[in-house]
Amino acid sequence: MKFSLLASILASTASSAAVRRQSTNCTTNTNSTSPSSSSALYFLDNNPSNSSIVSLLISPDGTLSNPILHSTNGTGSIGLSAANNGTPVETDSLFSQDSVVVSGTNLFTINAGSNTLAHFLIDPSSPQNLTLSSTTSTLGTFPNAVAFSPELSMVCVLHTGAPSTGVSCFKLDPTTNEISVLDPECSFIPLPSINQTEANQPATGPPNTASDILFNPSSTHLFVTTKGDPSSSTPGSVFSIPITNSSFGPLQESQPESLLLEFSMTFLNDSSAVITDPSFGAALVDTSSPENITLAKRTEIPDQKATCWSVYSDEKQEIYVADNANKDITVLDAGSGEIKRVIKGPEGAEGSLDLVLFGERLYVLQAASGISVLDVEGGEEEVVQSLDLGEVGDRRGWMGMGVFRGMQGSD
Ligand SMILES: *[C@@H]1O[C@H](CO)[C@@H](O)[C@H](O)[C@H]1NC(C)=O
Ligand SMILES: *[C@@H]1O[C@H](CO)[C@@H](O)[C@H](O)[C@H]1NC(C)=O
Ligand SMILES: *[C@@H]1O[C@H](CO)[C@@H](O)[C@H](O)[C@H]1NC(C)=O
Ligand SMILES: *[C@@H]1O[C@H](CO)[C@@H](O)[C@H](O)[C@H]1NC(C)=O
Ligand SMILES: *[C@@H]1O[C@H](CO)[C@@H](O)[C@H](O)[C@H]1NC(C)=O
Ligand SMILES: *[C@@H]1O[C@H](CO)[C@@H](O)[C@H](O)[C@H]1NC(C)=O
Ligand SMILES: *[C@@H]1O[C@H](CO)[C@@H](O)[C@H](O)[C@H]1NC(C)=O
Ligand SMILES: *[C@@H]1O[C@H](CO)[C@@H](O)[C@H](O)[C@H]1NC(C)=O
Ligand SMILES: *[C@@H]1O[C@H](CO)[C@@H](O)[C@H](O)[C@H]1NC(C)=O
Repeated sequence: MKFSLLASILASTASSAAVRRQSTNCTTNTNSTSPSSSSALYFLDNNPSNSSIVSLLISPDGTLSNPILHSTNGTGSIGLSAANNGTPVETDSLFSQDSVVVSGTNLFTINAGSNTLAHFLIDPSSPQNLTLSSTTSTLGTFPNAVAFSPELSMVCVLHTGAPSTGVSCFKLDPTTNEISVLDPECSFIPLPSINQTEANQPATGPPNTASDILFNPSSTHLFVTTKGDPSSSTPGSVFSIPITNSSFGPLQESQPESLLLEFSMTFLNDSSAVITDPSFGAALVDTSSPENITLAKRTEIPDQKATCWSVYSDEKQEIYVADNANKDITVLDAGSGEIKRVIKGPEGAEGSLDLVLFGERLYVLQAASGISVLDVEGGEEEVVQSLDLGEVGDRRGWMGMGVFRGMQGSD
């Protein structure tokens, strides 16, 4: 068994939730008999003065410990509330899903204040150890989500600010890790339906903002969701862009029936996806014709307030959806789209934002200053852990969630 020195150090301090800055000093207390884990969880502290990725150790039993901050070499930006006189929002500072994306040993995130893409490399033998590889200008305003296709070696960034709302794409050289603009002739694709008017300010939302960017599983198309504005009965949209030989076809816009505030989009397979909509719950959509995405099943979630984030389990054929104002997670059946059950979150979590699934554990960013670790098997005790991260700093900017799936751990 390959044994990681850093992992053993981290495991030996696993009971402490104290914040540590990244240190390259490995000469302290090693305990080669303590449990080792080569899996890690990440989220973004989208901080207007100094953004960071926070990495956490995932122990073999799925519990989290040892937050470490890694500077993204840029600043964040906190979105302004349309409902609350343009004051900074308390949570959901980017109005998005996918502000942190992990693929292989790559971690991508965005600096919404400095308009840059940050690319980190994950050390697979000690995945809490991140090395910043580069920061690249994203060519737009208020980047809030990122997508990566390993097949195409392509990174695309979504922006929801003024004056440059839209999408920019980059090529990752897998050998040198260099990131360069994909097509200098057509480097920025504007999104027509977003109407942010105040230039170079934090975006105002959640209505009238871009929400999510992602490739379909076969990487034939890039997709973007945008929220409409219920106050003016403006529907949201789902955009698709065909990709052939690393070049883009025309942007296609769909407005699936009855969707207003398209937030997260999560593919089940190339022909089916779930879209969360905080105006009613969630919907399955038919994506088999990406130029004409249609409603397949609309599911109202009773008493929902802000159903914004989603993750899919292929193995269980379940979709887990998170509500910013509810500590519990609603589980949908992937085939029918119907509500199957509810997983109870911990008292005090206040609400649920970005989430990832790893083995039998669901990791959910709380509206409170913490992370819920939930057991999706639905045993007697669904709350495995409620990790208080108050010591890490101001919760306001926390967004996004990614996981490095090591060989060990609860997979
Ligand atoms: C973290 O990774 C970098 C780059 O691979 C390496 O130079 C450094 O020694 C690692 N630090 C630790 C503590 O493992
Ligand atoms: C690493 O730790 C050792 C022992 O505590 C100390 O002597 C050394 O100065 C430290 N090195 C760095 C780079 O912090
Ligand atoms: C090493 O870790 C094991 C397992 O957690 C523990 O029982 C033991 O006391 C530790 N030894 C030292 C020297 O910390
Ligand atoms: C920014 O945060 C990083 C950790 O993420 C820290 O190492 C650095 O000192 C901070 N810089 C400033 C100027 O606060
Ligand atoms: C960090 O940002 C500075 C200033 O924008 C830039 O010169 C430098 O190359 C960046 N470093 C990395 C590793 O991206
Ligand atoms: C954009 O917003 C401005 C200011 O709120 C408004 O006057 C204008 O009608 C909007 N345009 C569209 C196309 O929604
Ligand atoms: C794909 O793009 C490359 C580089 O531009 C070009 O050489 C090649 O002919 C293209 N292939 C097809 C099938 O269009
Ligand atoms: C999209 O597909 C639906 C269902 O097949 C069809 O009724 C509708 O006419 C199509 N719309 C466009 C613009 O092709
Ligand atoms: C895609 O997923 C949906 C929902 O689980 C399923 O009904 C459909 O058969 C799947 N399609 C393909 C081509 O696998």
